[in-house]
Amino acid sequence: MTPTEREESQGETKMVKILFIADIIGEPGRKTVNKILNELKKKENIEFTIANAENAAGGFGLTKNVAEEIINSGVEVLTLGNHVWDRKEIKDIIDDQRILRPANYPPFTPGKGYNFYFSNQKTEISVVNLMGRVYMPDLDCPFRCMDTLIPEIKKETNLIIVDFHAEITSEKQALGWYLDGKVSAVIGTHTHVQTADERILPEGTAYITDCGMTGPRDSVIGIKKEIILKKYLTQIPLRFEVAAKDLIFSAVIIDLDEKSGKATNIKRLQIPAGDM
Ligand SMILES: [Fe+2]
Ligand SMILES: [Fe+2]
Repeated sequence: MTPTEREESQGETKMVKILFIADIIGEPGRKTVNKILNELKKKENIEFTIANAENAAGGFGLTKNVAEEIINSGVEVLTLGNHVWDRKEIKDIIDDQRILRPANYPPFTPGKGYNFYFSNQKTEISVVNLMGRVYMPDLDCPFRCMDTLIPEIKKETNLIIVDFHAEITSEKQALGWYLDGKVSAVIGTHTHVQTADERILPEGTAYITDCGMTGPRDSVIGIKKEIILKKYLTQIPLRFEVAAKDLIFSAVIIDLDEKSGKATNIKRLQIPAGDM
């Protein structure tokens, strides 16, 4: 069904379909996106695509070439997380309007934590990148950060997608409840393990604790399992390398009401993509 047909079939209500792709891991993750995305967008009538890219450059951070590669595959916005500063090259692209770092870094940190975009059907959408504080860098409070941002964003649009990049399930659930009815979706990232708790909260916010990862599943959260096992067994620091086999594309698709910004559906995806 085209967006216009959907609009007609639902009277006044126009729905917007947004795809959020979980942490893209290195070259295997980028190749997975390239393999899957085009066809998926057509099949699901996706109007706007966001991806977490904090691990997209060799597993750690983001560079200009890597960002361009993902954007050219059909992604509109790249969010980041605790690996944002891993590559010195990030300074060349941190002011790119399509790239977001967590909004709760202190004032005067380079880059932007949220921004406004248009879907391919000209619907205005705001994307916010936010980071948790438990077992993570000691940033400003993500809850109070959203208290400040939401009134600003709502002057422009009711459609607000939050990538909450955090380690522990309880902090993520707490933010989901805190933002229920205030934003369209709270999508967890960072653990690289997809959770099966996707739902629409009572006031209309789509929620998932973690969206998972897009990259090699024959690994420990994206890194070669042999290296991680050796590290656990010896406690000697080792250089991590991205694994390559058993690729998986992990994402969620969210349906939003264009006027209210409330979510009506969230669908979890895990699409196998073979090997590199
Ligand atoms: Fe990650
Ligand atoms: Fe992370």
